[in-house]
Amino acid sequence: MKLTILGGGGFRVPLVYGALLGDHAEGRVTQVVLHDLDAQRLSAVTRVLAEQAADVPDAPEVAATTDLDEALRGADFVFSAIRVGGLEGRANDERVALAEGVLGQETVGAGGIAYGLRTVPVAVDIARRVARLAPDAWVINFTNPAGLVTEAMSRHLGDRVIGICDSPVGLGRRIARVLGVQNPAEAWIDYVGLNHLGWVRGLRVAGRDELPRLLADPGLLGSFEEGKLFGADWLRSLGAIPNEYLHYYYFNREAVRAYQEAEQTRGAFLRDQQARFYAEMRNPDASALKAWDATRAEREATYMAENRESAGAGERDADDLSGGYEKVALALMRAIARDERTTLILNVRNRSTLSVLDSEAVIEVPCLVDANGAHPVAVDPLPDHATGLVCAVKAVEREVLATADSGSRTTAVKAFALHPLVDSVNVARRLVDGYTAVHPGLSYLK
Ligand code: G6P
Ligand code: MN
Repeated sequence: MKLTILGGGGFRVPLVYGALLGDHAEGRVTQVVLHDLDAQRLSAVTRVLAEQAADVPDAPEVAATTDLDEALRGADFVFSAIRVGGLEGRANDERVALAEGVLGQETVGAGGIAYGLRTVPVAVDIARRVARLAPDAWVINFTNPAGLVTEAMSRHLGDRVIGICDSPVGLGRRIARVLGVQNPAEAWIDYVGLNHLGWVRGLRVAGRDELPRLLADPGLLGSFEEGKLFGADWLRSLGAIPNEYLHYYYFNREAVRAYQEAEQTRGAFLRDQQARFYAEMRNPDASALKAWDATRAEREATYMAENRESAGAGERDADDLSGGYEKVALALMRAIARDERTTLILNVRNRSTLSVLDSEAVIEVPCLVDANGAHPVAVDPLPDHATGLVCAVKAVEREVLATADSGSRTTAVKAFALHPLVDSVNVARRLVDGYTAVHPGLSYLK
């Protein structure tokens, strides 16, 4: 089975390959093709993978190419994990937004819109190529903003593109852990929303909802990441546990201020950190795997550091440092390739799941997965305030998609202006000016 990874020179590729190395069952991936625009990044990552595979006899064979069509031909699965504009682009997304006093995060608010505006045209081109060159392939989209990008690709690939994120899984795992659920796999997590905009409303074990027990216990609430970020009182008011990215909404002023005051934004930090890693990989004597792992550990330890600092949440829990998005991707691929039925929280088309959205809208929801793909399960409606946010953000995503189709600058202004975290049409206008001035990937806006 052939797996093609787009963005194959990317820093997180060894996580995916590490997960593949643990899979010895029949029907597993035997061939990995890395595609990237940058040959030097490809060779750096290839070195890490070779060291990972050193003691594994049946390790998937790895090839690398800068030719997209060649990479796609004959693929059974395509992982799309690209970063249009690189980390320099991410840093610029943050800088321009923060200068206007709004959030520049890569998936939320103005930053997410800017990143989406330059990523959607590239993702659409990839989707069209997949439809032509590998029409039977399944595309697993990791590229942020993951919900929006998955929806853009689904217009060309239908249900053959599935978006993934590890934050709902991590949230479910943490709640199960604090509740003392022995086997988290047996827990049913009632979660729904958009990517980075969802809520856990219940956690059922053997037919019993355990979430009320958590919400009633300030000690338990204070003992895990989301409890520390949002505070016990607010979680009790909500009666639900929000995805950590909702911190940017519920505590927007504090988050913006913390990012403005930080020595470096997240994007700038990762840009410099990864530049050091890729530079080190040019030294043939360096241990690639050791350098990669040290860089990865530092990245995970500092994830959402400004949010945690502004909330007084302290360090991350050791159990939360292992990421996990590669595990979601592998579980999804296995379920499809081997018809091993499982349930995963994924980004798929809504169909009739949330009645306030149309059937084509990509949402994040638990899905039954098997050889026929991912099927969203029925969930209870969201409460009104959550529905309001989901509808507002989906409307913004639709303006981003319309902008990518038409190239209209006016529509781009509308996308920014309608976002709940952008508080003035004038700010939206200046954001479009600021972003088009720094991003070559937005030169299509007229
Ligand atoms: C979480 C999010 C991802 C994001 C990742 C890394 O897992 O769900 O969407 O890509 O964190 O964030 P970072 O700030 O380290 O790039
Ligand atoms: Mn994510």
